[in-house]
Amino acid sequence: MTTTQANDAIATDDQKLAQLKEFIAQTQKDEHPDSFLIAVLHKAQELYSYLPVPVMDEIAQEMAIPTAHIWGVATFYHYFNLTPPGQHVISICLGTACYVRGAAQILQTLRDELKIDMGQVTPDGLFSLQPARCLGACGLAPVVMIDDKIHGELTPKKMIQILNQYRKQAKK
Ligand code: FES
Repeated sequence: MTTTQANDAIATDDQKLAQLKEFIAQTQKDEHPDSFLIAVLHKAQELYSYLPVPVMDEIAQEMAIPTAHIWGVATFYHYFNLTPPGQHVISICLGTACYVRGAAQILQTLRDELKIDMGQVTPDGLFSLQPARCLGACGLAPVVMIDDKIHGELTPKKMIQILNQYRKQAKK
């Protein structure tokens, strides 16, 4: 099975699609049209972890709007992912407390180590990198969240050690 075929299979997962269609039907009545599409895209990303093209096609059909318009909205907002995330999602906090305590150096360390930028996935699929606003752990700044775990009081050296732990686990 090719990656595209696999993505199509994920995208047409009946249960998730049913949930998405139900959300569209329920929300359509209550929401203002401008915020409605964004709410639907959030729901789709919650279900699929990203926005596969076949899912955007389904949304277009359900809402009777062109896929190109949905694509435009999805690419405009940085919090929508258009590619599948890595096995581990690294969210780097760029909130004020983290920024003044060295988030820029941590971000540079991540870029150098992983050879990717924000919104990208490492070629082995192990990590993806995304920005975050305050993660509510300012006392531990600078902070990253990997999946749902907070790692704080980071230095470039500590960041590399943490990445190596995940790499080691992946090899087991
Ligand atoms: S600013 Fe980074 S956790 Fe609050």
